[in-house]
Formats: sequence, C-alpha cells, structure tokens
Amino acid sequence: MNLPPLDIRPDSSVVLLTGAGISAESGIATFRDSGGLWEQHDVSQVATPEGFRSNPGLVWRFYSERRRQASLVHPNPGHFAVSALEQFLASRGRFTLVTQNVDGLHQRAGSQRVLAVHGSLFKTRCSSSECAQGLCSWEDHSLHFQDVPLCPGCGSMLRPDIVWFGEYLDPAIESAAREAIADCDLFLAIGTSGAVWPVAGYVDIALARGARTVLVNLELPANANRFAEVHLGKSADLLPRLLPGG
Ligand code: APR
Ligand code: ZN
Repeated sequence: MNLPPLDIRPDSSVVLLTGAGISAESGIATFRDSGGLWEQHDVSQVATPEGFRSNPGLVWRFYSERRRQASLVHPNPGHFAVSALEQFLASRGRFTLVTQNVDGLHQRAGSQRVLAVHGSLFKTRCSSSECAQGLCSWEDHSLHFQDVPLCPGCGSMLRPDIVWFGEYLDPAIESAAREAIADCDLFLAIGTSGAVWPVAGYVDIALARGARTVLVNLELPANANRFAEVHLGKSADLLPRLLPGG
C-alpha cells in the first residue's frame, strides 16, 4: 500500500506520544488488548498504592517479571524510526517524546528527549514521602523475587518508580509535556488506547494550539475522533514509512 511520508519540515516542532502498542512488536504485552496485562493481573492488586501496601511482595514480583522481560527484548523499527525523527529535527526543529511506556526501549533505540510520564521499570524510589533518598537505579539492589528491598536512607520499603492508578504524575515531567504540546505544530500519538488520564487529554492541548494531530494505531481507539489523520496498522511497519529519517 502506498503510504506517503508525513511532510515534516526540519524546522517543525513535533511532539510524539507513545503507548504500549509501539513495544508490542518487540514482544512486550500491551495492557488492554486481548490477552493483555490487565487480563492476566488484577490492576488493583499490582498497580495501586493500596495493592502495594497490602502485598508488596506480589507487586515486586509483578514488576520484577516485567523488568526481566523488558531486558530480554529489543527495540523494534518503530522505536528506531522515532529516534531517527529526533535526529532529523535536531538542528532546526523541536522534538519531545512523551511516553507512557516504562520498558526503556525508546532510550535503548537512541531517543534522548524522553518524558517518561508513567516512570520506569528500571528505577526504584523510597515509599516514604518524607525520605530524601530520591530515585535509585534498580541495579543498586540485587533483588530476588521474594525480597522487598528497603531504602538505604531510612529503611522504609522501596517501591518501583511507576505511576500507579490513583497517583499523580511527576509535576515537573507533566508540565514539561504540556508545555511542549502547547507549542507544537504536529502531535503524533502512536500505539495508545487513550484510556488513561491525564495523558488521554494531551491531544486536546494540541488541538487547542491548532496543531496537526495524527494517530498511528492498530485499531481505532475511543479517542480516535480527536485526530485529524489516522493511520491504522502496526507501528513497526508504518513509522519507518511515515517518519523522515526512518
Ligand atoms: N502497532 C500500533 N498500535 C498497536 C500495536 C502495534 N503493533 N499493537 C497494539 N496497538 C494498540 C492497540 O490497538 C491499543 O489501542 O496499542 C494500544 C495499546 O493500548 P493499551 O494496552 O491501553 O496501552 P496504553 O495506551 O499504553 O495504556 C496507557 O494505561 O495501564 C496503564 O500505565 C499503563 O501506561 C499505561 C496506560
Ligand atoms: Zn527512604
């Protein structure tokens, strides 16, 4: 099928928003597709602060397994097309990648300006809000599935640095994302169901700005009507053809 590339100029201001769909062809399960993560696990038990409080070991085993899987797979052509676009815009344009993904595949594909709005599988932080310990990379903890690591600073339990349901995004990351979108010419969403707020509302910021809104997704998500252009298909196939430098 003939698919003309998106006419992105080298001086464009572009924001990409990605979700689990862009990592699907690397072999990482999405959340809401059939057989997805939320069919296999009870969200309230593994992805909420209440779940962590009631069974931290289960939560650590859930994220340890996802981290193990993420470290075994590799970025796919969709991830590389995204980092090539960032290079294409590097000299005269502006580029921001806002990702909901926590798998680290964008960073491994060479993306630099990444706002990981839902955190990272490869970071932990102290569960005590008063603690000054801050983020530590997972490698500092030779964690086995049975143990729940404790903060070296205050002895409280460490937790995965993931934004759980019912929690706020990091304010600095969220405002950087909103600022970039409010200033973009092109907003391109890839592989996301648009089911989770506040990220689901980011396309409306782009629309209010008068930006071009493009969606690349396997199926039509609930918020598809918010996009001026929709390309249905697999991102690993479409992105190298749609994006310059891909
Ligand atoms: N190429 C493009 N899109 C794809 C592909 C693919 N190969 N495979 C699946 N998709 C699409 C699906 O059609 C779906 O619309 O990707 C989307 C994945 O949606 P979700 O599983 O809901 O993932 P996401 O949108 O990233 O979820 C958002 O919800 O559970 C929370 O914090 C979690 O960050 C996550 C957030
Ligand atoms: Zn601490």
